[in-house]
Amino acid sequence: MPSKPSSGFKLDLPARPRRLRRNASVRALVEETVLRPADFIAPLFVIDGKGAPEPIASMPGVARFNVADLVRECRALWKLGVPAVALFPKIDARLKDPSGSIALDEDALVLRAVRAVKKALPGLVVMTDIALDPYTSHGHDGLLSDDGREVLNDATVEVLAKMAVLHARAGVDFVAPSDMMDGRIAAIRKALDAEGFDQTAIMAYSSKFASAYYGPFRDAVGSAKAAGTSLLDKRTYQLNPANRREAIAEAIIDEGEGADILMVKPAGPYLDIIRDVREVTRKPLAAYQVSGEYAQLHAAAKLGWLDLERTSMESVLAIKRAGADMILTYFAKTLAVRLKA
Ligand code: PBG
Repeated sequence: MPSKPSSGFKLDLPARPRRLRRNASVRALVEETVLRPADFIAPLFVIDGKGAPEPIASMPGVARFNVADLVRECRALWKLGVPAVALFPKIDARLKDPSGSIALDEDALVLRAVRAVKKALPGLVVMTDIALDPYTSHGHDGLLSDDGREVLNDATVEVLAKMAVLHARAGVDFVAPSDMMDGRIAAIRKALDAEGFDQTAIMAYSSKFASAYYGPFRDAVGSAKAAGTSLLDKRTYQLNPANRREAIAEAIIDEGEGADILMVKPAGPYLDIIRDVREVTRKPLAAYQVSGEYAQLHAAAKLGWLDLERTSMESVLAIKRAGADMILTYFAKTLAVRLKA
């Protein structure tokens, strides 16, 4: 029963926006942003050996998988309509050295993982990170100068280009340089083309900030450096969170160097940057909802302070609304299950 107006008071309004919110059908008609499983890229962690999945304490629901379990997880995602995965290896600490030489090992864990996934699911888009942090003993994304005080740019790019070729040879659809060295997109494109991999695409982590939201990820891949500070200072290569113009400039540079897809990372705290980059490029744009964004919703939900189902969906929807065409998110599977239902 509609409640009776208590008085004759009536506003004379030219617009009553609530008319379009009256019921679910009207709301569906005017809905502007729609999430679908095909918007998601699922980041997955892989470990060597045959052991059981290793849960990551700071990322509830996320585990590191051995290669066989990784393939199973990829198949489940594929069945749910998730078209892409991004693979991150966790390397045994004993295999790491200051120059991350294991990154150029032809039998590297991530390459074995790529081959296994592409063999089982040729249609699934497989991406890998191009950066040295999972492989270096110090956890930086590049090589250090002799005095250990500087992350070397050009020497790092030389290694990254070789790494990209190895990944292309293993069958990745996209290489995703996440290192933030200058000039790496052009160098990687050139190296790929020279080896005949002109169809291997580049997703550039183009506007990647030196963010404190990567903490749980560094636990997951063990790049938080064993000794000393737990959060490595990557401010000499990743963007200053205070800088908006510089973030746009980085995206433009990477587009000019040949990136096929650009990226903003993190996503939720940087929605303005997603919108800014969306407006300066016609390239597809990805956004990475990072480990800390995932962890904070889980933590609040665990305390009973937030509804995880609703906030996870809303947080990802907001990233798409801001202008991202695709979202790397640890919620990919749970959201895909619900969007498919
Ligand atoms: C490494 C890399 C990082 C992430 C993706 N690739 C961490 C870093 O730069 O230290 C973070 C992802 C996340 O937090 O979910 N180059």
